[in-house]
Amino acid sequence: MAQFTCRWRNVLICVYTPCFLMLLLFFHAGIVVCMRMAGVKAPWTPENPQFEAPGTLKNRGFAPLPQVFWRNDLHKEAFWNQLQLAVDRHFNPILHPNMTKKGLRNSRFESVVRQSFSEATKQENMRKTFHSLPHHIQRFVNHMLRRSYPIILQPDGECGTQGKDEKKPPLLLFAIKTAELNFKNRQAIRQSWGKAGWVAGQKRNSSVGEEVGGSVQRVFLLGKENSDDLGVNISQLLKMESKHYGDILQWDFEDTFFNLTLKDVLFWRWFSDLHCRAVFVFKGDDDIFVNTPRLITYLWDQLETLQANKSLKDFMVGEVIGAAEPDRADKSKYFIPERFYSGSYPSYAGGGGVVYSGLLAQRLNLMSRRVHLYPIDDVYVGMCMMRLNAFPVHHPAFLTFDFPGKEEKRPCSYHKILLVHKRSPEQIVRLWADLKQTQTQTQCKDIPLSADVKIKDKNLP
Ligand SMILES: *[C@@H]1O[C@H](CO)[C@@H](O)[C@H](O)[C@H]1NC(C)=O
Ligand SMILES: *[C@@H]1O[C@H](CO)[C@@H](O)[C@H](O)[C@H]1NC(C)=O
Ligand SMILES: *[C@@H]1O[C@H](CO)[C@@H](O)[C@H](O)[C@H]1NC(C)=O
Ligand SMILES: *[C@@H]1O[C@H](CO)[C@@H](O)[C@H](O)[C@H]1NC(C)=O
Ligand SMILES: *[C@@H]1O[C@H](CO)[C@@H](O)[C@H](O)[C@H]1NC(C)=O
Repeated sequence: MAQFTCRWRNVLICVYTPCFLMLLLFFHAGIVVCMRMAGVKAPWTPENPQFEAPGTLKNRGFAPLPQVFWRNDLHKEAFWNQLQLAVDRHFNPILHPNMTKKGLRNSRFESVVRQSFSEATKQENMRKTFHSLPHHIQRFVNHMLRRSYPIILQPDGECGTQGKDEKKPPLLLFAIKTAELNFKNRQAIRQSWGKAGWVAGQKRNSSVGEEVGGSVQRVFLLGKENSDDLGVNISQLLKMESKHYGDILQWDFEDTFFNLTLKDVLFWRWFSDLHCRAVFVFKGDDDIFVNTPRLITYLWDQLETLQANKSLKDFMVGEVIGAAEPDRADKSKYFIPERFYSGSYPSYAGGGGVVYSGLLAQRLNLMSRRVHLYPIDDVYVGMCMMRLNAFPVHHPAFLTFDFPGKEEKRPCSYHKILLVHKRSPEQIVRLWADLKQTQTQTQCKDIPLSADVKIKDKNLP
């Protein structure tokens, strides 16, 4: 009897073990298939771009190749994405091979953007989405097609206010976003880091024994203040200011937060139309402090490698914010609802202060005609960069979010950085005076950028 049971047990083991293993195998396969279908996303890097607004990547020069153009389900609900999808499709070299060949200078670009807008907004679902958007975003949409605003005031010179070195194009042009009422900020900048003329760097040219430096010019970018209840005619004052300093570039649009993108786009156009041949452009806000001598030195160093590598046309440097998600907190100044834009932002340089080459400014001018305006200016620049297949370079000495911790209190902290946001006009003037003292200059000569600043930098979003 005992022998009988033992034999039956062997038979059971022989039959059930393979069945059990098969079951495990199916189970495993099922899980793998499910995970595939859920599509777990890999992290974003410039090498592995996953820009969600159906954009174009890995292009050759101006011929963008689409990433996701065949996917109809992508961001169906998001208003901006849908508008831009139509434009991106239009310039898709596979769908419209003849379109890209004509080159970017074609004036038809604007009409394509216009046409796609009117087609898209005719659709029922788009109209519904539009009406569900917050009021201030609706207001943005109502004006997002308009890009030509008359210039009210502009400098006489080719690239803003004229330095002493008029014949040669400047090494660096400061383009500073400001508002009519911020006279104090402009004045502080004129007296300090934004002073036009020749600026000595912090290095000597070993071959000739001279200081390395470059000429600097400046232009302020303004819209119009809504000044009904101020009681003074600011236009009159600004006109006098422009006559005196020759560094005001003002357009006839309302100077609101969502209109700031217009300043970039219209500045690029002004820059290109006037054939300003500044090698570098600095674009920043009027409440930052810039260490101009250090910046000049840095740019000289860059220029050598950039020219050697022929990469000057792609050059942009600043505090790079990668893989940022749109701000979905509806109290925020930067609030963007999911119904307006979905997906993450491309990597972009913080708009407080950023430097790019004059060549890139001209390319951005052309590319911007194919990208619908976006309410947040630095993100918009990132979107255009993306489509040029150019990526901003990160530099730890661009402190657009101020010093980390107590770093500011250390001696020489301001000597080592390139810029810091944000400082009042009084602070700017005082900091500049400190920077110019020969005594502190010698003390701070060889101190490197603090390790804390570099570390803070790694923890950025
Ligand atoms: C593109 O251009 C070629 C020759 O230039 C022409 O034969 C072809 O019909 C054009 N295609 C379209 C879609 O216009
Ligand atoms: C240094 O001087 C030489 C000779 O004038 C010049 O060719 C070179 O460009 C200068 N270098 C810098 C960095 O200014
Ligand atoms: C303000 O001054 C400008 C420039 O002189 C003038 O064109 C405009 O009419 C003035 N506005 C008012 C409200 O007086
Ligand atoms: C931008 O400026 C235009 C022209 O002044 C104005 O009509 C529009 O309302 C402004 N847009 C926003 C979003 O403030
Ligand atoms: C530029 O070329 C130099 C060598 O000439 C190289 O070390 C450097 O990494 C290059 N930079 C870029 C951005 O390719």
